Amino acid sequence: MSHRIPAKITGVAGYVPPRVVTNADFEKTLDTTDEWIRMRTGIRERHIAEPGVAASHMATEAGNLLLQQTRTDPSEIDLIIVASVTPDMFFPATACLVQDRLGAKKAWGFDLSAACAGFTYALTVGAQFVGAGTHKKVMVIGSDKMSAILDFKDRATCVLFGDGAGAVLLEPAAGNEGILDFHNDVDGSGGKFLYMPGGGSLNPSSRETLEKNMHVVHQDGAGVFKYAVRRMADVAAQLVERNGFSSSDIALVVPHQANLRIIRAMQERLGVDDSKVLVNIDRYGNTTAGTIPLGLRDAIAQGRLKKGDLVLLVAVGAGFTTGGVLLRWAY
Ligand SMILES: CC(C)(COP(=O)(O)OP(=O)(O)OC[C@H]1O[C@@H](n2cnc3c(N)ncnc32)[C@H](O)[C@@H]1OP(=O)(O)O)[C@@H](O)C(=O)NCCC(=O)NCCS
Repeated sequence: MSHRIPAKITGVAGYVPPRVVTNADFEKTLDTTDEWIRMRTGIRERHIAEPGVAASHMATEAGNLLLQQTRTDPSEIDLIIVASVTPDMFFPATACLVQDRLGAKKAWGFDLSAACAGFTYALTVGAQFVGAGTHKKVMVIGSDKMSAILDFKDRATCVLFGDGAGAVLLEPAAGNEGILDFHNDVDGSGGKFLYMPGGGSLNPSSRETLEKNMHVVHQDGAGVFKYAVRRMADVAAQLVERNGFSSSDIALVVPHQANLRIIRAMQERLGVDDSKVLVNIDRYGNTTAGTIPLGLRDAIAQGRLKKGDLVLLVAVGAGFTTGGVLLRWAY
């Protein structure tokens, strides 16, 4: 069954904070090597935000760039959705902070928590409002400051992530363009593989939660890896096949950037070569909800997206959450 929504992406922008932390920098503080990190993950460096810079600030930077690029007045935005697992605080929602800073006076908004599938979830949720005919301009943002929830003494997690944000504008689509199909799912039994136990209503912040190191990412890396390899490949293949396409029809896959080996396994299953897969994990690491819009931004900058291209977005994240979107690029 196809899930065509008459909504299209009409602009893409991204922001990463200026400070770069290389693998060599980690060699100075951790029992690790540049070679291990590169070989196991594909990451060479990542951007890390300064203290005082939060998910909302990066989201606002990306949002402002998007408004400029698309020549959109902030008052034209109807809805702002921010996907993030590192919101500035529990409440107000990061979307409210962004709405205020952008001056998007008419927009309502909310945050969406789906970890690394956050952007694909938010994109398909935002598209429903456009498709319903009730909203003309929806800003969808993925923004995460993963450095705020990393244990920089844990070599198995801290080297994997970076900070960054990306934003897209969704508008009504005509004809056979925009979002052709999508697939979202949850396997909640995977929650135990990747989570942050402290600070929520189950384990409110206390001296004890701090002492037990509960305010950082906890991960069973091999468990996440196994699930992600299988589901990224399954969903990518399923979206292509059920819409009657073959791998040769795909112009570009923009996958979530968690691990280069996960991306290559998905690519092999799909049967597309490197020229059809956007990879920027080497420069940014895993920016969680930021990876796909940052990937789209880089693809445009590299001249790898043109009107009419068949594009596939696919992501797996904590939850487990999985999201895939098949679209016909519209500009
Ligand atoms: C984390 C990950 C890179 C580890 O790679 P791996 O090939 O599975 O490696 P293993 O977990 O088998 O660990 C192998 C060894 O390397 C060690 N190791 C882990 N991180 C290391 C690092 N940064 N430097 C050096 N050694 C490291 C481990 O401690 C382990 O040592 P041991 O065998 O003595 O216990 C990989 O599991 C992964 O990418 N998982 C998915 C994570 C992810 O994408 N999360 C976000 C999801 S959206």
